[in-house]
Amino acid sequence: MAASIFAAVPSAPPVAVFKLTADFREDADSRKVNLGVGAYRTDEGQPWVLPVVKKVEQMIANDNSLNHEYLPILGLPEFRANASRIALGDDSPAIKEKRIGSVQSLGGTGALRIGAEFLRRWYNGNNNTATPVYVSTPTWENHNSVFMDAGFKDIRPYHYWDAAKRGLDLQGLLNDMEQAPEFSIFILHACAHNPTGTDPTPEQWKQIAAVMKRRRLFPFFDSAYQGFASGSLDKDAWAVRYFVSEGFELFCAQSFSKNFGLYNERVGNLTVVGKDADNVQRVLSQMEKIVRTTWSNPPAQGARIVATTLSSPQLFDEWKGNVKTMADRVLLMRSELRSRLEALGTPGTWNHITEQIGMFSFTGLNPKQVEYMVKEKHIYLMASGRINMCGLTTKNLDYVAKSIHEAVTKIQ
Ligand SMILES: Cc1ncc(COP(=O)(O)O)c(C=O)c1O
Repeated sequence: MAASIFAAVPSAPPVAVFKLTADFREDADSRKVNLGVGAYRTDEGQPWVLPVVKKVEQMIANDNSLNHEYLPILGLPEFRANASRIALGDDSPAIKEKRIGSVQSLGGTGALRIGAEFLRRWYNGNNNTATPVYVSTPTWENHNSVFMDAGFKDIRPYHYWDAAKRGLDLQGLLNDMEQAPEFSIFILHACAHNPTGTDPTPEQWKQIAAVMKRRRLFPFFDSAYQGFASGSLDKDAWAVRYFVSEGFELFCAQSFSKNFGLYNERVGNLTVVGKDADNVQRVLSQMEKIVRTTWSNPPAQGARIVATTLSSPQLFDEWKGNVKTMADRVLLMRSELRSRLEALGTPGTWNHITEQIGMFSFTGLNPKQVEYMVKEKHIYLMASGRINMCGLTTKNLDYVAKSIHEAVTKIQ
C-alpha cells in the first residue's frame, strides 16, 4: 500500500478550553470542579435552558406558518434589526439615520470572521494584509487566529492587564494607541473583558475614544457578554453606544451564546455602523459575497428564538429577568469566594474577585499554582489563572476556596 497522501500532516495542538473539559470528564474524583468552561451553570452545576427560550421554542414548534426554507444570505431580517437595536440602543442616532447594517452570523465567532474577512478585502486598500490588527494582552485566544486566518499578517498585542495591580493598564493601552499606525484595527471587548473581567470605566472609555479618533484607528467591538457584566443590557452596551455617538464608523460582533444560553445554536450578529446609508449598503453587498462562500446562509432556529423574544415587549422583559438571574448568581459567587479567601487569611488581596465583572475572573494564580489545583485538587482552570465564576456553587465554594488557599500558601 502507498503511504497516505495525508502522511505529512502534522497534528495540531488541542484547543485548551475544550481539552480542559475533556480532562475534567475523564477525572473520576468525586471532588472535581470545572472552572474552565466558558458557559453558564446553575447552582447545581448544570447547564441552564432559559425559561423564556423554552417558551419561545414551544411557540416556534407550534407555529405552522414556519418552514425550513433557506434564509436570505444575510439572515433573518427581524433578527438582524432587533439584534443591532439592543447593541446600539432604541434611540440610536445611527439607526434613525439608517446608516447601520447587520449580518446574521454563526455565533460571535462568525461575526468576527465575516468582519475580519471584509476588512482584509476592502478596508484601507484592496486585499490588505498589512494593516496592523491590535488585540489586548491577554485576550480571548481566538481573536488572533480569526484575524490571521482572514489573511492579516501583522497581529499586535496592546497593553491591557496590569498584573501587579490586578487592574487595567490604561496608560499602556493609550500609549499603544498613540503609537499605532493610522487606520490600524483595534479589537475592543465591549464589556466583561475575557479573560480578565476588567473593563475600562466610562471616563476611561472616553479617553480611549479620543485617542482612537485622533489617530484614526478602527474600533471592532466584540460583544459576547451583553447583560452578563452588570445584569443591565444598556449599561453593558455603554462603550459601543458612546463610540457611535462620537461619530465613529465601527463594527460590533455580537454573540447570543451566553446571554441567551444558545451556545450550540450558533447565533450571532455583525453590526456595521457607517457614515451614511449608501456606504453601509455597499459594505453589506460585499459581506453577502463573503457569507455566500463561507456558510451560504445562516441557520434559522436560534435567530427565530432571539428575534421572537426581542420583538415582544413581554418576552423581552422575561428575557431581561433571566439574564439578571444569571448575572446575580455570578455576583453572589464572587462575593462568597472573596469572603472565604479573606476569612482563611489567604496571602494577597482578593478585592479583584468582586471588582472584576462578567463570567470570568483572573485569579492571579500562577501556572504552577494552577497545575497544583488541577493535579492535586481536581479543580480545572485555564493555565492563565482564569476561572469561570459559574463553575462555583454553594456546594463546592468551601472546597475551592480552601484549595486556592493551599495553592497560594504552598506554591510560589
Ligand atoms: C470574547 C469572546 N468573543 C467571542 C466569543 C464567541 O462566541 P460564540 O460562541 O458565540 O462564537 C466568545 C466566546 O467564548 C468570547 O468569550
